[in-house]
Amino acid sequence: MDDNSAFIGSVAQRIVRPVVLIGLMGTGKSSVGRKLAFMLDREFIDSDDAIEEAAQQSIAEIFETYGEAYFRDGERRVIARLLAGHTGVIATGGGAFINDDTRSLILDQAITVWIDCEIGILVERTGRKNTRPLLQNGDPHEILSRLHAEREPFYSQAPIRVESRDGPHQDTAMLIIEAIDRWL
Ligand code: S3P
Repeated sequence: MDDNSAFIGSVAQRIVRPVVLIGLMGTGKSSVGRKLAFMLDREFIDSDDAIEEAAQQSIAEIFETYGEAYFRDGERRVIARLLAGHTGVIATGGGAFINDDTRSLILDQAITVWIDCEIGILVERTGRKNTRPLLQNGDPHEILSRLHAEREPFYSQAPIRVESRDGPHQDTAMLIIEAIDRWL
């Protein structure tokens, strides 16, 4: 075992709550989260995937058919369920933490990590897919800048903040492990 894996193993042992990743669309919550879970030898769950599975519909279809308020309510219920039965890594949709009930649940029950990122990188990354309803009408740079300004007061309530850059997911995952180590 090298020094790094001994360090990661020792941090993993001290993590007795789920690790929840929050932050804007495109910050890499899912890809970094998957890597982080692998490094910590924990299970990974994406709350958007769990919502789609529960609803048997895509996020875009749920927004289109029932609207955002309905989606947020389902999101709150799904995240409550995931938090109750999970000590792995949970990536949440970018707006989940803005809902007062969902935010309280996460802050009470998890180790919350805000992944922050420059808007330019988010525009580039989110431009690779057209599955995000909130980015379909308007200029993505403008929308993401507005959402960042609106949501920052909420995201900044997370005890841990990590900056994601244009590098391997493993580097951001490692920053998270080091930040958790300092925080625990
Ligand atoms: C949303 C983010 C999306 C998804 C939905 C709404 C948001 O998740 O939950 O499209 O409000 O920021 P990602 O952050 O995983 O893209």
